[in-house]
Amino acid sequence: MPRSKIAGIGKYVPANVVTNNDLTQYMDTNDEWIQERTGIKERRYAHRTEETTTTMAAEAAKIAIERAGTTAQEIDFIVFATLSPDYYFPGCGVMLQRALKMKEVGALDVRNQCSGFLYALSVADQFIKTGMYKNILVVGAEKHSFGLDMTTRGRNISVIFGDGAGAVVLQPTEKTDQGILSTHLHSDGESAEILAMYNPGTHANHWGAQNYADFDDAPIANMFMSHAMIDNAQNFPFMDGQSVFKKAVVKFPEVIHEALTANGYQSTDINMLIPHQANLRISQFVQAKLKLTDDQVYNNIQHYGNTTAASVPIALCEAWEKGKIKEGDLVCLAAFGSGFTWASALLKW
Ligand code: UT7
Repeated sequence: MPRSKIAGIGKYVPANVVTNNDLTQYMDTNDEWIQERTGIKERRYAHRTEETTTTMAAEAAKIAIERAGTTAQEIDFIVFATLSPDYYFPGCGVMLQRALKMKEVGALDVRNQCSGFLYALSVADQFIKTGMYKNILVVGAEKHSFGLDMTTRGRNISVIFGDGAGAVVLQPTEKTDQGILSTHLHSDGESAEILAMYNPGTHANHWGAQNYADFDDAPIANMFMSHAMIDNAQNFPFMDGQSVFKKAVVKFPEVIHEALTANGYQSTDINMLIPHQANLRISQFVQAKLKLTDDQVYNNIQHYGNTTAASVPIALCEAWEKGKIKEGDLVCLAAFGSGFTWASALLKW
């Protein structure tokens, strides 16, 4: 059975740099608090009308496709991970198929938030291994800036997130010392409401979402997205940051160990760990727990913030572009986030 390898990788971030100080014009926050708690100095925000999740994905994908030595016409499947799609439906997969003028190939949308790219990569990996497809485009992209509460009320979330996109092309390889060695996916829906955007949705508060006012007397047609929801600021994401943090620092090391153990490796064997860029403090905790050196872990949240599904491919691409990942290196990708969902992938570059 062939393995799949990352044949090409690309990233795209918007030109607009938004510093921590820039955010103080909208909300009561400051550079010191943001840097101390998250490590973030700046993030990118997409152009309001010229850039969408799909257009950013298309730019990253074009680079990945070219670096893979192929063309958009040769791509035979798309897996697209995002929590900030251009439309509620259809998903971004078909939008990307159109944007890149691709053949009428299958396009799958993945909704696993921070773990989205790793879930997407895992799905694509199975299709390559079975021989069903030969050139799969896997994308993670987000335009968070359009859906954040840019007031003091939303500051614990809004200062964290940024926009961008990353993409890889997966192809089969017959080489025994190259490619994706394994992927490991997990979920625990017990804490689904802890990091979530409740609306628009069909729940009508069935699950008792936090900070959610009941609309028992609202006409049913207005329950999906009503004026009242907007008036009550319920169209923004909710996060209990401390609960997420506590779970993340347990699950990141766990899922990385799972990947290493499954392949007979130890943490000292890792050449490069690319953790989902949730919070620099989380990455540093994971690094210390695994006893990794600074050279073994790549972080760029300082400059892009948390770009959710895009963070792993953006960081992987940047590390590779800087020459920090070389052929034969053991690379570990890991993510944790809303759901909760968490995942890892171990690969030989
Ligand atoms: O990728 C998705 C997964 N998400 C994560 O992994 C996030 C994990 N959690 C975190 O990164 C951290 O919990 C945060 C960075 C979100 C927050 O840090 P924290 O140390 O947990 O702060 P906190 O929420 O407990 O808030 C501490 C204080 C509060 O003030 P009081 O009540 O102590 O007076 C907040 O109101 O900091 C205040 N605060 C802020 N102050 C200035 C919250 N946000 C801000 C802000 N600027 N942006």
